[in-house]
Amino acid sequence: MTTTKNFSILPEENRLNNIHLHQILLNISDGCYYLNKDMQLLFVNRSAENMFNIVKDEILGRNICEAIPDLCRKVCKQLYQSYKKQRGISFDLSYANTNYFKVKTIPDTKGLLVIMQDITETKKENERRAYYEKLRLIGEMAAGVAHEVRNPLTTVKGFLQLVEKNEDLLKYQEIFLLMINEIDRVNSIISEFLDMAKNKPSRKEKEHLNEIIQSIYPLLETRAIKENKKIHLQLHPLPLLNLDQNEIRQLIINMVNNSLDAMHAKASIHISTYLDRGQVVLSITDEGTGIAPEVMNKISTPFFTTKEKGTGLGLAISFAIAKRNNANIDFTTDSSGTTFSIRFTIQDHY
Ligand SMILES: Nc1ncnc2c1ncn2[C@@H]1O[C@H](COP(=O)(O)OP(=O)(O)O)[C@@H](O)[C@H]1O
Ligand SMILES: [Mg+2]
Repeated sequence: MTTTKNFSILPEENRLNNIHLHQILLNISDGCYYLNKDMQLLFVNRSAENMFNIVKDEILGRNICEAIPDLCRKVCKQLYQSYKKQRGISFDLSYANTNYFKVKTIPDTKGLLVIMQDITETKKENERRAYYEKLRLIGEMAAGVAHEVRNPLTTVKGFLQLVEKNEDLLKYQEIFLLMINEIDRVNSIISEFLDMAKNKPSRKEKEHLNEIIQSIYPLLETRAIKENKKIHLQLHPLPLLNLDQNEIRQLIINMVNNSLDAMHAKASIHISTYLDRGQVVLSITDEGTGIAPEVMNKISTPFFTTKEKGTGLGLAISFAIAKRNNANIDFTTDSSGTTFSIRFTIQDHY
C-alpha cells in the first residue's frame, strides 16, 4: 500500500519541483540559456533577454548563432565543443565593448545550460582601483625625489636672482629672467606632483559648492580676459557638501585651465551646478577643440599630455581630488567642445 501511495505522489512532487526550478531559473539575475544538441534555444530567462536586448518569443527554437549573431561570432564554437565533449567550461566575454560577462556552461546528454554573469561593474571597479593604486605608487616614488630636487633648485634660483642684479651683467638680464622662470616652472611641476602624492586625508567641512566657485571666479576670469575668452556661471541652489575647499578649488582651476588651453579667442566656458538624480553635478563645458578619440582613455594617466609645455598632471590630480571628495568625473567630447561633469554623491555628505 505504502509503496503504491509513494509511487503516485512522486511524479506530482517532481512536477512541482520542475515548476519551482523553472521559476527560479527564469528570475535569477544571471542570464540563462538552454540549448539543445543542435544549438537551438529552448529556454531563455528574463536577465538574458535584457542583457542582449532580445525578445524570448522571437528567438526560441532558433539556432543561437542566428538568434544573437553578435554574441555568437565569439562563442558559438566554444559552446558546441563544451556540449560535444560533455565538459563544462568557463570564460570571460566582452560584448559591444561596453559589457563584460563571465560565461559558464553545464552540458548534459540533451544539450547545454549556459549561464552568464554580468561582471561589467566589478571589472570597472577593478580598473578604477588599479588606476588609483598606480597614482598612489607613482606619487609615493616621486614625492621622495621631488623634495630632494627642490632644495638645490632653490639655491640656484637664489644665486641667479643675486647675479641678475649685478650691473656688469645687465645685458644678460633677459637670460637670467628666463632661467628663473624655468626654475619656477620646474618648481610648480614638483608642487603639482606633491599634490597628487598627498596621502593625508582631505580636510573636509560642510561647504557651499557655489560659494567655492564664486570665490575662485575672479582668478579664472583674469586669464580668460587676457586671452579674450569668456566664462559664464549658472549656479543652482544646492545642499551643503562635505568638501575640502582647497582641493575643490584646485580641481576647478585644473579643469578650467584645460578648457582655456583648448579654446581659441572669443570662445566661452560654461560652468554650471545642479542637482541630478540625487547627486550634485558641477559641469564645465567649453567650446574647445575636443579630445581626440585615440587619446580619450589616456588623458587621466599621470604625465600624459598633448601640449608642448603640459605636465600631464592636471587631470590625474583632479581625479584623485574627486575621489577624496566622494565624487566621480566623466566627460563627453566632440569637435565642438568638451564637457567634464564632476558628480558628488550627496548621501555620503551627511
Ligand atoms: N577640456 C579639454 N579639451 C580638450 N582636451 C583636453 C581637455 N581637458 C584635458 N584635455 C586633454 O587631456 C590632456 C591631459 O590634461 P592634463 O592632465 O590637465 O595635463 P596638461 O593640461 O598638462 O596637458 C591634455 O593634454 C589634453 O590633451
Ligand atoms: Mg592641464
